[in-house]
Amino acid sequence: MKINVLGSCNMDLVVETVRMPRPGETILGLSCARYPGGKGANQAVAAARLGASVSFFGKIGGDQFGETLLKALQENGVDVSAVERETEAPSGIASIWVTQAGENAIVYVPGANAYVDIAYIDKVFPKLLEAKILLLQLEIPLATLRYLLMHLPNKGPVVILDPAPVQDISGLPLERVDILTPNLGELLALTGAKNLSEAGERLLTLGIGKAVVKAGKEGAFLVERGGVLHLPGFCVDPVDTTAAGDAFNGALAVALAEGKPLEEAIIWANAAGALATTRKGAQPSLPQRKEVEALLQKSAR
Ligand code: RIB
Repeated sequence: MKINVLGSCNMDLVVETVRMPRPGETILGLSCARYPGGKGANQAVAAARLGASVSFFGKIGGDQFGETLLKALQENGVDVSAVERETEAPSGIASIWVTQAGENAIVYVPGANAYVDIAYIDKVFPKLLEAKILLLQLEIPLATLRYLLMHLPNKGPVVILDPAPVQDISGLPLERVDILTPNLGELLALTGAKNLSEAGERLLTLGIGKAVVKAGKEGAFLVERGGVLHLPGFCVDPVDTTAAGDAFNGALAVALAEGKPLEEAIIWANAAGALATTRKGAQPSLPQRKEVEALLQKSAR
């Protein structure tokens, strides 16, 4: 069961504070830490920890962070043979503020991720087709994603696109996206709608097959032509929501690649997303398969 992930890898610089600073204000921070992150790399590690065979496609910078990011992927068993080093560029960076209430705000600087271009896609294209599922996000250039989606054959792989950080995706050939996975805020921003059902209808008219809308502790909503189905979340004590959405996408891909029906796959993804909120950091927070299975068993009792 093979999963490919094309996307970003970033060094996350995480500052914990009591509250978010206001513009022009200096406040005391509580701690500062560095974690390997990036939506693409996080989704690759999430899927690998759940037992999938995963290849990551993307670029690191010529700096020391690049080495650390590559090592983090390798230590999790992710195949990085197609990753390229952009020697003149710094690695991607995400400056993340996390409050004690568990809210976060992120400023993302693409660095080497901006060099994931059409020439790179041409080089790795045959390998990208080898997987059953291809996970994409929006931390690499939209022009690259557009080119890739235009050239992917209809017969495979299954494409799961995470439209984060949210941007105007109306220029993408969305009919080649099998499942779109926005969170609620992203869904409303993408469609300009006021509520879930209106937003769902607008999405489907754009040509997207299905949407799985991530709703934090409420779980997720499956939006299809037939209507909207709510799949409730799991009760945990969250400390940091960073990468919970990536844990969700990685788990969704693994469950689907294993042949689970979509509704069951979403329940799996809800469990993985919930567990990721119980630990600090991006990649350090992503759960192992036995933890997801234990949470699912506990909630079935
Ligand atoms: O989804 C979480 C990720 O988004 C972080 O790891 C950070 O790198 C940002 O891009």
